[in-house]
Amino acid sequence: MTQSVPRLEIRNLTHSYGGQVVVQDVSLSVNPGEVCCLLGPSGCGKSTTLRMIAGVEDPDAGEIRVDGALICGQGRSVPPEARRIGLMFQDFALFPHLTVAENIAFGLTGPKAAQRDRVRELLARVSLLPHIDVYPHRLSGGEQQRVALARALAPRPAIMLLDEPFSGLDNRLRDGIRDETLAILQQEGTAVLLVTHEPEEAMRMADEIALMRAGRIIQQGAPYNIYNAPKDRAAVSFFSDINVIRGRVRGALCDTPFGQFLAPGQPDGALVEIVIRPQHLRIDFDRSGTGPLATPEHGTPARGVVERARFMGNESLVEFRMDHDGSILKATVPNVFLPRPGKPLWLTIRRDRCFVFPAS
Ligand SMILES: Nc1ncnc2c1ncn2[C@@H]1O[C@H](COP(=O)(O)OP(=O)(O)O)[C@@H](O)[C@H]1O
Ligand SMILES: [Mg+2]
Repeated sequence: MTQSVPRLEIRNLTHSYGGQVVVQDVSLSVNPGEVCCLLGPSGCGKSTTLRMIAGVEDPDAGEIRVDGALICGQGRSVPPEARRIGLMFQDFALFPHLTVAENIAFGLTGPKAAQRDRVRELLARVSLLPHIDVYPHRLSGGEQQRVALARALAPRPAIMLLDEPFSGLDNRLRDGIRDETLAILQQEGTAVLLVTHEPEEAMRMADEIALMRAGRIIQQGAPYNIYNAPKDRAAVSFFSDINVIRGRVRGALCDTPFGQFLAPGQPDGALVEIVIRPQHLRIDFDRSGTGPLATPEHGTPARGVVERARFMGNESLVEFRMDHDGSILKATVPNVFLPRPGKPLWLTIRRDRCFVFPAS
């Protein structure tokens, strides 16, 4: 099989502000028609990375290629307008004194007739053709967003960079606009690099997620892999609430009130953390002081007492105070499960649903 050339490829991008490194050795690639998501907390360097790709900020080191051609690095820097890269930000601004059609045509060059055709094609795609001669203030927030998308796509960019473009939108509108935007970008065949701090948005939109922390990419892969094979405790907790159980290693095993866990590669005496998401704790009823039988799959049950239980809509959240050390563990259960405070219940941890990491 021949390896296709990525539409966008960045290698070892590094950038500092006033001696402080804010992007360090960031490498990733995006193929045509693919959505890659740079996901990380606020301040981790996502926007700086996008600005370097767009060409409005120069990297200290590293290279950027579009369809294999070097546009930045080795002493060269192609100016932003010649990079075939489109941008969309949260605070996109349409020109208020220009109509929808004029806004979209703003960055276009070439014959007027071809420009008009392109504007009509894009407006049809974003379902706004009837609004072609309207001024932006007459449009809703969602409609303005679609015009901004059409404007960014008008010059047929090879790559679209989206920097948290949906965070200004009403929650109920957001899902619909996200899906619509994605469909339009895919029809255009553009490679997309999306920046967000919201894990749900990344999971919903991305083919590939690059998890970023303190200027570095710490893990990269399909959403399923990032979620199910996280690299460290912080990578788990970025996507959901977590429970952490600590223990010491002896003979590559860690003994806990929930039975033994494999701790391969961990030296004797090392402190490890067993990390488990609330939806993966299993709850069993108390049978006059005992829980379910221990099994290799679920280990040993540990008893706790319900501290409180709340209905959350899709699921119920139950907090337990554990008998063995008084710690609190959280479990979520689909639908309605609201045991009374004080009720004893047994918890087990499925061995294929937890993650064992060296203690942080
Ligand atoms: N123009 C700037 N001058 C100095 N520091 C900046 C500038 N822009 C961003 N930073 C700093 O760089 C770090 C990364 O910022 P940014 O790339 O905007 O993060 P993100 O988009 O992930 O929230 C932050 O600590 C931020 O304060
Ligand atoms: Mg940002």
